[in-house]
Amino acid sequence: MATVEINRLRKAYGKVEVIHDVDLAIAEGEFVSLIGASGCGKSTLLRMIAGLEPITGGEISLNGRVINAVAPKDRDIAMVFQNYALYPHLTVAENMGFSLRLRNVPKADIAPAVRQAAELLGLDPYLGRYPKELSGGQRQRVAMGRAIVRKPQVFLFDEPLSNLDAKLRVQMRSEIRTLQKRLGTTLIYVTHDQIEAMTMSDKVVVLNAGRIEQVGAPLAVYDRPSNVFVASFIGSPAMNMFEGTLRRSGGESAVQTGDLLVPLPGHSSAADGTDVVLGVRPEHLELGSDGAGHPVFPFRVELVEPTGAELQLHGRIGTTPAVATFRGRLPVREEEVVNLTADPRNFHLFDKLSGERLN
Ligand SMILES: Nc1ncnc2c1ncn2[C@@H]1O[C@H](COP(=O)(O)OP(=O)(O)O)[C@@H](O)[C@H]1O
Ligand SMILES: [Mg+2]
Repeated sequence: MATVEINRLRKAYGKVEVIHDVDLAIAEGEFVSLIGASGCGKSTLLRMIAGLEPITGGEISLNGRVINAVAPKDRDIAMVFQNYALYPHLTVAENMGFSLRLRNVPKADIAPAVRQAAELLGLDPYLGRYPKELSGGQRQRVAMGRAIVRKPQVFLFDEPLSNLDAKLRVQMRSEIRTLQKRLGTTLIYVTHDQIEAMTMSDKVVVLNAGRIEQVGAPLAVYDRPSNVFVASFIGSPAMNMFEGTLRRSGGESAVQTGDLLVPLPGHSSAADGTDVVLGVRPEHLELGSDGAGHPVFPFRVELVEPTGAELQLHGRIGTTPAVATFRGRLPVREEEVVNLTADPRNFHLFDKLSGERLN
């Protein structure tokens, strides 16, 4: 178990800077996910922590000790890769024991360590097999087993489930989480899949083009995204966004968006006339005018998508595309105009220019 601290970390490939001044503190035993689109710098960040990539500036500390100059093999950090990186000519047991053998751990100690890890991962029946004789999920378990036998202070996982089919991904997700809880080892998990990040992590770190946009508990980030980028990145279908202008008179404020004037109860200290973005999540739009004085959005339905458990309505409010999700079923037809309402407490208000949250 260990703490990891990253201070003003930078990385440039040649003249191109891909990680800009990243600060991040990870507590002992924490499960932290780095999430962001492809190319935003997740793997680079992870590889710098592992020592596989030289850093351009800043510091990485493990348990309060700067490890910038420590060789990868001496960092006591184990990495699991997307492509598993197993040795094809070694058996499962040999693959799992390989790093211990490299460290000259006596044979008599390797076997029990491998057996223990195999037991944790349900790999006992496969110890004598070769990687090509295993399914994708089993290979991924072997890759994890190889990391576990070393009993490292930190695990680094780089998109470990990307090569698995959807059903197995869901299963492995909870297996990894359970395993990490049992071992209590600090784990940094890279993914572009927000459901993985949301369901597995104590803390998510949203990255965008080499910068951290927000750090927080999954639901805290979901409930209060700190800017437009995070608001549109986290959540599926994405948050509906309406561009407008803030109107203030007396103590009241409202957003003028198209023909609609949407009152905001006690919202925002921004000045009258500020260009804003009003956000509301698809699940916070409800059908009908509820009489509670909530604003009403006339919504032209363009597409009805039943998924079974949920119904998604795609359409437009004014000229802005919008999505509303409902549990259960509704007698709504395409091309119909229906009234949607939303509790203003579920509104998100952002400054259009800076993208920063205003409420
Ligand atoms: N060895 C390299 N040389 C030059 N550019 C690189 C190298 N590795 C990654 N990059 C660039 O750095 C950025 C971040 O890459 P990466 O960390 O792999 O992103 P992610 O893992 O989030 O998809 C990308 O723009 C990528 O093209
Ligand atoms: Mg990557």
